[in-house]
Amino acid sequence: MKPSFFDHIIHGGDYNPDQWIDTPEIWDEDMRLMNLAHVNSATVGIFSWAMLEPEEGVYNFDFLDEILDKLHKNGKDVILATPSGARPVWLSQKYPEVLRVEETGIRNEYGVRHNHCLTSPVYREKVQNINRRLAERYKNHPAVKMWHISNEYCGECHCDLCQQAFRDWLKVEYHNSLDELNFKWWNGFWSHQVTDWSQINSPKFRGENHVSAMKLAWRRFVTDSHISFFENEIAPLREITPDIPVTTNFMKLYDGIDYQKFAKKLDLVSWDNYPAWDRGYNEKEACDTAFVHDAFRTMGGGKPFFMMESTPSLVNWHNVNKLPRPGRQELSSIQAVAHGADSVQYFQWRKSRGGHEKYHGAVVDHCGHENTRVFKEVSHLGEVLEKLSDVVGEECNSQVAVVADWENSWAVKYFCGYNNDHRDYFDECIKWYKAFWKKGVSVDVISMEDDFSEYKLVVAPFLYMLKDGTKERIESYVKNGGNFVTTYLSCLVDKDDLCYLGGFPADNLKDIFGIWCEETDSLPDTMKNSVSYSGKSYDVVKVCDLIHSNGATVLGEYEEDFYKNRPAVTVNNYGNGKAYYVAFRNDGDFADEFCNKLSGEASITPDCSIKAGEGISVRKRGNLIFVMNFADGEAKATLDREYTDVLNGKALSGEITLPICGYLVLE
Ligand code: GLA
Ligand code: ZN
Repeated sequence: MKPSFFDHIIHGGDYNPDQWIDTPEIWDEDMRLMNLAHVNSATVGIFSWAMLEPEEGVYNFDFLDEILDKLHKNGKDVILATPSGARPVWLSQKYPEVLRVEETGIRNEYGVRHNHCLTSPVYREKVQNINRRLAERYKNHPAVKMWHISNEYCGECHCDLCQQAFRDWLKVEYHNSLDELNFKWWNGFWSHQVTDWSQINSPKFRGENHVSAMKLAWRRFVTDSHISFFENEIAPLREITPDIPVTTNFMKLYDGIDYQKFAKKLDLVSWDNYPAWDRGYNEKEACDTAFVHDAFRTMGGGKPFFMMESTPSLVNWHNVNKLPRPGRQELSSIQAVAHGADSVQYFQWRKSRGGHEKYHGAVVDHCGHENTRVFKEVSHLGEVLEKLSDVVGEECNSQVAVVADWENSWAVKYFCGYNNDHRDYFDECIKWYKAFWKKGVSVDVISMEDDFSEYKLVVAPFLYMLKDGTKERIESYVKNGGNFVTTYLSCLVDKDDLCYLGGFPADNLKDIFGIWCEETDSLPDTMKNSVSYSGKSYDVVKVCDLIHSNGATVLGEYEEDFYKNRPAVTVNNYGNGKAYYVAFRNDGDFADEFCNKLSGEASITPDCSIKAGEGISVRKRGNLIFVMNFADGEAKATLDREYTDVLNGKALSGEITLPICGYLVLE
């Protein structure tokens, strides 16, 4: 059991009492309802800036004082937000430079949110001012337990300040040398040599957008801009409230920012989880969501994370907003806990009366009382979470890692060639992840810069780009006994998208994998090839490499076309380990069956011996085993011994049947 910031599972969510300033009796009603709902926490102030600073330099904390006191009196923990995600109108009016400039070069007018310039010194100063005031005022408030920094950092700005900041960033990246930049960006192509830093602008649709190295640099710059904006925001908090942890809420597999880099700056990683349940693909949604939970858990160094938002019923931003069926939100929340979340939080506590999100799900609906299905379900879940506090702080032990690298996802997206219609990088990662998820084997989702050495098996699908040091790290991992798998179109370019010369996979990796890739074929959606592997035939779709074995054992071969009988799956013994190359894409069960075999060879043991039927996900965290039914009907599992059902204390053994959305927590 590792130290945690809390000794119980946080159950609560975004609370916007500032919207109800004229009806303070609602605030008291909120306290009564929170108690009924077994809610123990509230996240406040996310969008309160205009209320806290109604005029420049004029602060009014009355409402927040009162709310924090009320929450504290009612035993609630407060997660206090910094308000930079949405700023007051007066600020944009007086200082237009804080407004974001879109890729078109046109400056936005005031509106919506998340639309500020990341570089503007004025905005950074104003944000620091309000944050300093908040920290000073509430540093000793007993309810305040964590900082929620801004909200869902995202997007980018193309204003003159950001252009200059980009150029300054490039000067550092390329050692103040335009020669180096021209070389790394291969600017001799199409006569794009830059002769002065001032000639470089952000990638734009109507400007430079075909230099993939530049687009990679821009993404890295945007990531660093967010991080430096964040560091500027938290500077006064670190100074005044050094003991209060900070987090910011990430968004699923959002690729505008390198989350794997940003996460290192947080005391605790958190994310907003909005699966599209009950649309006929629940098992896929469950696996995708599990992958994201594991990615954020791994990003936080394996420590528990927070599920900062989820909806207690529907959202309002799908085209068609389907109600999740009864029990779905509870199951979805339990899944988060099973994968390492120490919180179940909602957007939002109470539905707003007006504004853009008034039809978004909330714990308290417009009817205002507790006699709703959703309220009762939330309250039931709150009771359940109270019984699971032993799991708080517990980590998950993973024998397997899947590399899903944010920077590689950009590189995969930006190059032009082969099958331009089907890149699907994260989906490819999930395909391999799923093979283990289905078997209840915990998987870490790592970047290519993370340590491989603690895993028995590392699967790096579509590892197109190699960052500095990755080749060497693969080599030492395999040499020291690791099992490393990669797939088609892997190990082609360096971090600037420059192809390695001398054949693929790059440099020393040809020896490690014992193969050489001569050509890559792409298959239109109407065509396929197949591969024979272990007595079965598997479809080859979208893309495949034509490789030669240079010492690797051939495990599978193509069955059609001019490359019939050439290797498609290989393994090479290198040092004490093994390096596997899967040269083709398969959208069926190849990954599944291949991983079955690998699990045996790498002596990967299931985290527990419960046999899960179709649709059931089994997951161990600490001493608890979560058995969750994501099927669209009832589903079965077989218990390998007697367990105690943690929620009712009863003994259970043998075959069990879970109803739709049913789950068990066993010990
Ligand atoms: C995001 C935001 C919230 C809210 C929800 C709606 O996660 O952070 O403020 O808009 O979406 O689903
Ligand atoms: Zn800007």
